[in-house]
Amino acid sequence: MTVTVPSPRGNIIDGFGYAKGLRERITTQVAALKADHGLTPCLVVVIVGEDPASQIYVKNKGETTKAVGMESRTITLPATTSEADLLALVAELNADKAVNGILVQLPLPEHMSSLKVIDAIDPLKDVDGFHIQNVGKLSVGLEAIVPCTPLGSLMLLKDAIKTHGNGSLSGLNAVIVGRSNIVGKPMAQLLLNENCTVTVAHSRTQNLAEVCRSADILVAAVGRPKFIKGDWVKDGAYVIDVGINRIDTADGKSKIVGDVDFDAARERATAITPVPRGVGPMTIACLLNNTLHATRLQHGIAAPQEA
Ligand code: GUN
Repeated sequence: MTVTVPSPRGNIIDGFGYAKGLRERITTQVAALKADHGLTPCLVVVIVGEDPASQIYVKNKGETTKAVGMESRTITLPATTSEADLLALVAELNADKAVNGILVQLPLPEHMSSLKVIDAIDPLKDVDGFHIQNVGKLSVGLEAIVPCTPLGSLMLLKDAIKTHGNGSLSGLNAVIVGRSNIVGKPMAQLLLNENCTVTVAHSRTQNLAEVCRSADILVAAVGRPKFIKGDWVKDGAYVIDVGINRIDTADGKSKIVGDVDFDAARERATAITPVPRGVGPMTIACLLNNTLHATRLQHGIAAPQEA
């Protein structure tokens, strides 16, 4: 007699809890860096203008940085700041030995070139991992500072596949919906480095639902609420939802939802990140991880061996 054991579905990937654990490990390592080398990592966040969402992100980054024992500085510039003045500030921060990480919050006002500003940052202080040197290193498989959201997504994915699967990403079909420089493209590089077969889908992709249904790993980074439908999810897939979208609710309030129709997708997925409390908290935790990593790189200090 054949007994069919139903495979478990609908597990929730607890990004909030994972990020908390990561911040605790960072806190311990920051204390050790201070005790052993007299160093306190310092992260400087630069915000230009008054975009409300950016202001909230920057405030959160500052508070979380201090909470792990690092030094946090926030520099706020008016939206009318010239590109030349911003580049001069970046040069000053590059030269300041007490500064270990520099993050220029995006988007920048339209009169500035974000590519030019990012490329002015010392690659060793580029904790966003957006500098062309870090992008290039990641793409050829060299050690690089890796963008925070894809890095956090990969950590969650690996943990979920270890918990609910056979622990290996090798050979799995990964579909990433979204081709941004911040998430989609670096995510593709990271998954290629894990030996996945990677497809990057985007707004011009034909038969998107079909493409998504081929994914053992589905990463949604499109910035459109509940864009990925439940029946686009392959049975047993791992779903990583990078979206953070605010939508109005019937009671006149609003709430945050992801790029995936969570309830419907959960029925098919082996495991799925919720929004909120999924990928979001990992982004800041990985920023701190990158700041710690950058501090060590600048001082030639090896990372402690993982227990
Ligand atoms: N704006 C939205 N996400 C990010 C990010 O990860 N880094 C920076 N610098 N700006 C952002």
